Amino acid sequence: MKKNKISKNWVNKQRRDTYVRQSKVDGYRARSAYKLIEIDEKFKIFKGGMTVIDIGAAPGSWSQYASKVVKSGKIISIDLKDMDKIKNTIQIKGDFTNSEIKNHIKSYLDKGPDVVMSDMAVNTTGIKNIDSIQTGELCKEAMVFSKEVILKKGFFISKIFMGSTFNEIVALGKKNFKEVKVFKPKSSRKDSKESFIICKNLR
Ligand SMILES: C[S@@+](CC[C@H](N)C(=O)[O-])C[C@H]1O[C@@H](n2cnc3c(N)ncnc32)[C@H](O)[C@@H]1O
Repeated sequence: MKKNKISKNWVNKQRRDTYVRQSKVDGYRARSAYKLIEIDEKFKIFKGGMTVIDIGAAPGSWSQYASKVVKSGKIISIDLKDMDKIKNTIQIKGDFTNSEIKNHIKSYLDKGPDVVMSDMAVNTTGIKNIDSIQTGELCKEAMVFSKEVILKKGFFISKIFMGSTFNEIVALGKKNFKEVKVFKPKSSRKDSKESFIICKNLR
């Protein structure tokens, strides 16, 4: 399909999408907010006072929701891209896979985070296996980091793509955490291979 046809389809899809319309009403910067809201409704993750690390945070709808629910808590948001400010949120611009950025994140922690969440994704190629492998690598890196810093009873949440890396990531989750669930929120587009892994209680 030609590039301008793809973008026209994307614009039409956005116009029809109820979550896009709702995000404008609720003041969220992206429809992705509703995926995290559904995850929270199902797994009861966020409470007031929590410290949350949001990796791959731009434009910021997950951080907006987290900021609302942790109230006096703290959010540390990381992305390659700039983000507009969000209340209670420390923003770091950089590549999460860079060890200096990881040390920068750690420098803001006075205790382990209660939640580490990653919605990181590379620009999708449309070739499902490549998208799955690349996003899988980011998920694994976020999980290894979370294991290093998270509180014993903390939650690790990450986007994953169904595909060749799926089983490996679930196995890695089970090796590191006592409880592991995979969940596809209703707000995640049906034609997307995206799903989410929710891990709780470090081993
Ligand atoms: C789907 S968007 C995140 C949407 C976000 N959760 C929200 O609710 O607004 C994925 C983000 O991952 C970021 N990303 C991808 N690779 C990254 C990396 N290595 N380090 C930091 N951010 C990364 C991209 O820049 C992009 O903004």
